[in-house]
Amino acid sequence: MGVKALKVLVIGKGGREHALCWKLKQSPRVTSIYCAPGNAGTALDVQNVAIEPTDFRGLVQFAKREGIGLAVVGPEEPLVKGIVEVFQREGLRIFGPRREAAELEGSKVFAKDLMRQAGIPTADYRVFRSAPDAEHFALSREVALTVRSRGRSSLRHTLHCRTAAETLEAIDRIMDPREMLSPGVQVEIEERGQKRVFSTAAEARDFVLGRPLGLVLKADGLAAGKGVFVCDNLRQALDGIDQIMVRRIFGQAGDCLIIEERLDGQELSVLAVTDGRTIIPLESSQDYKRAYDHDEGPNTGGMGAYSPTPIATPELMEQVEREVLVPAIHALKRARRPFRGVLYAGLMLTNQGPKVLEFNVRFGDPETQVVLMRLKSDLLEVLEAAADERLDTVSLHWDRRPAVTVVMASEGYPGHYERDRLIQNLEAVERMPDVKVFHAGTTLRAEAAPGREARVVTDGGRVLNVTALGETLAEARNRAYEAARTIKFPGAWFRQDIAAATPRSRR
Ligand code: AMP
Ligand code: GLY
Repeated sequence: MGVKALKVLVIGKGGREHALCWKLKQSPRVTSIYCAPGNAGTALDVQNVAIEPTDFRGLVQFAKREGIGLAVVGPEEPLVKGIVEVFQREGLRIFGPRREAAELEGSKVFAKDLMRQAGIPTADYRVFRSAPDAEHFALSREVALTVRSRGRSSLRHTLHCRTAAETLEAIDRIMDPREMLSPGVQVEIEERGQKRVFSTAAEARDFVLGRPLGLVLKADGLAAGKGVFVCDNLRQALDGIDQIMVRRIFGQAGDCLIIEERLDGQELSVLAVTDGRTIIPLESSQDYKRAYDHDEGPNTGGMGAYSPTPIATPELMEQVEREVLVPAIHALKRARRPFRGVLYAGLMLTNQGPKVLEFNVRFGDPETQVVLMRLKSDLLEVLEAAADERLDTVSLHWDRRPAVTVVMASEGYPGHYERDRLIQNLEAVERMPDVKVFHAGTTLRAEAAPGREARVVTDGGRVLNVTALGETLAEARNRAYEAARTIKFPGAWFRQDIAAATPRSRR
């Protein structure tokens, strides 16, 4: 390995990118680090350049002008849009998968088909290209309901229905859906011995649509992490199909829809660095996707994380490597889409073993913050080795101490929130041992008065990732929370149960 000094460009502007910059800065071989476009944290720790992650031309020009020796891509969008080939065409070295391999995250249909073909355990699924087909499928899910007429109905039979569609049809046969024409007629629906009587077709239909059912809808393309609907009943499923495929809330990402079986269990993220031949799994981590304590509230970009996770035993990690990572990399290679970069498997640990919920083609956010906090090896060596296809020469060393990150959010997040709130006490927290605050949604406000220091203000929903190491998970957690309580900005809030309870799957 050469001792050549190097300039690095990190692309992105969140907590993950700040963590990458912070870790790369520790490499003795790095002379300068630039973050494009970065945030207040990267401005203070490294240097920001005001170029957007999808402005490939701007990034290439900058990299050439500055003599960047390695570019590292944080978010998925530039990868899926082909930033790696653009850099490589210009003879620039870059860490990340090329577009054809990034399809693994860019198209959920591609990912599911690859998994099926490679025998990688995942939820059963079907692909739909039209809303009526998807609705028909949802309505043909199994139910066990018996429908009987009551009152002054001309029909006197009992109808055993195997699907929701059959049940709705039976209701319509007994009661005219316009209702006015069937006065005095009632419908009785029996479910597992329990009988309910409805006086209008609308009420009876509503009951059927509310039956519990485990379906997950996934818009095919990139939807800024929001394209997955976990449905508890048929009503939600039909509404989700309408939103994705008819009202097109994710635009083109809704051309194609996956409906898959809902899985139950604990979720686990496994990230691995690979050069397409060698795979090095990173330490395990878990993130907390729901906004509020006890996994209540809407889904977010992640409200906290910790590493390592007790559920990721060495045996389980080996199983994931054998059943998921190796076959995925192999299948991509065989499809002539060799993968280089970080492969991120989002897993559900079911009773039948780990199953893949999704693949990402980049570092996870906020998992990276806790994982890098524990990495002792030089990250630059690892990323360079992966970019140069010599990852077999590298091994990773880890701090055995656990790490916890708590996300401090703006008032109102994940809904509407205000920006430009002054953040205080960051310096006091930086002096706490084994604590590091990674910035996610922050920017620097240059005060008008000359001579005054630039100030850090909020500039996003997820503002800071307050990260700490500890001898035990409890100690790491206490430290992170102590630091989070010290930092002040108007409306700041954070989950109280990160690393105290394990995140649950949605039910
Ligand atoms: P995303 O990270 O936006 O792709 O959303 C994925 C999240 O949706 C996962 O973290 C799970 O919580 C949930 N999810 C996705 N697929 C399933 C599934 N088949 N069963 C249960 N939950 C799922
Ligand atoms: N932590 C979830 C993600 O990075 O997609």
